[in-house]
Amino acid sequence: MKYALLLVALSAVLVSDASVLKAPVTRANLNVGYIGPGDRLLYRNYVYQPARPNTVQSQDVIWRGNVSNRLTAITAYEVGATQYASAFIINGGVNRNNVTIRFQSARGYGYYYQYELWGR
Ligand SMILES: *[C@@H]1O[C@H](CO)[C@@H](O)[C@H](O)[C@H]1NC(C)=O
Ligand SMILES: *[C@@H]1O[C@H](CO)[C@@H](O)[C@H](O)[C@H]1NC(C)=O
Repeated sequence: MKYALLLVALSAVLVSDASVLKAPVTRANLNVGYIGPGDRLLYRNYVYQPARPNTVQSQDVIWRGNVSNRLTAITAYEVGATQYASAFIINGGVNRNNVTIRFQSARGYGYYYQYELWGR
């Protein structure tokens, strides 16, 4: 499919504790907004990071749509057994045309998420 979208930029995985944010919720998965009629999948991808001893790892995924995009739902689900990771929105989101999702591991664990952006 040909999307007129700017591509997702992946930051380097951060391994220092300096950048660690406290996740606002304890739930591992992210599920905000509502997929309505006429909405479609704008983007789907995975983030994966293997476990690393005694380290909290995190990564920000930035998605920017075009001027007319509007996000209606944002989901991120851990693939496989939970690793006690967290996914949360730190910028943009539902009703915007951009979003930044932070994926963050538990100390000593990794993460493996599938995330989806829905909208129109
Ligand atoms: C924005 O992107 C959507 C697909 O995600 C496309 O259908 C729409 O035509 C685009 N609009 C503009 C103004 O490029
Ligand atoms: C995200 O979208 C909002 C408007 O919905 C805009 O004000 C903001 O500058 C955008 N941020 C980025 C990083 O594109």
